[in-house]
Amino acid sequence: MGRRALPKISPLLDLSRHLIELNAIVGPWQPGWLFHVQQPLEVEIGSGKGLFLATAAGGQPDRNFLGIEIGAKYARFAAARLARAGLENGRVISGDAVHFFREFVPACSLAAVHVYFPDPWWKKRHRKRRVLHAEMLQAIERSLVPGGRLHFWTDVEEYFHSTLDLIREGTGLRGPFDVPVRDAEHDLDYRTHFERRSRLSGIAVFRAEFRRQPCDASVSAGTDLNGP
Ligand SMILES: C[S@@+](CC[C@H](N)C(=O)[O-])C[C@H]1O[C@@H](n2cnc3c(N)ncnc32)[C@H](O)[C@@H]1O
Repeated sequence: MGRRALPKISPLLDLSRHLIELNAIVGPWQPGWLFHVQQPLEVEIGSGKGLFLATAAGGQPDRNFLGIEIGAKYARFAAARLARAGLENGRVISGDAVHFFREFVPACSLAAVHVYFPDPWWKKRHRKRRVLHAEMLQAIERSLVPGGRLHFWTDVEEYFHSTLDLIREGTGLRGPFDVPVRDAEHDLDYRTHFERRSRLSGIAVFRAEFRRQPCDASVSAGTDLNGP
């Protein structure tokens, strides 16, 4: 994706609590690994520069927010944002969300999954690289608690409709539910950097929310991501 260089992060900033390398994780998860306070956990896939993570963690201290970002520089940048703000309910994992969901995320464990403006992979032969494919959507469904939400926004109409088809055909998620559009008076009122970019350029944004039906707790993977 065409992106500008990121501003430098002060070497004095301690990222040790906020940035976790996926490669350094050896399963199974230990309680207390990521968050010390046990509260509903929401995961953002592809958190980019971390605007959503910082806004959500700052505005909802009674929930935990975990970003998973494959671009190491972006993961670091988002973690720095959380660290600078002193947000203990926000963390970033540097690594591949598909691997993370496949190997680590326990069934019926997440209050919400957020996917905002995933890389479109425009060419037909590249579409298999999209982060939202059939297997990933099933893993997301499995990870949600009953009533847990999947938020999916994109400015690529074809990606939106083909993903909704995959959800309808391959999962039991309920929806799509409409998502009201909020006015933005300030740069940080946008949910993510890509939402700001699209809306300021007059590009349409497609938004959908889905909810999980009751869980089958017999389907499980990994262990608890919250601390005690
Ligand atoms: C178009 S950007 C959107 C960033 C942010 N969500 C926003 O709306 O501003 C997509 C992001 O997803 C990340 N990404 C792509 N594939 C990923 C994967 N498999 N796991 C985690 N992150 C991924 C990219 O590195 C990039 O930062």
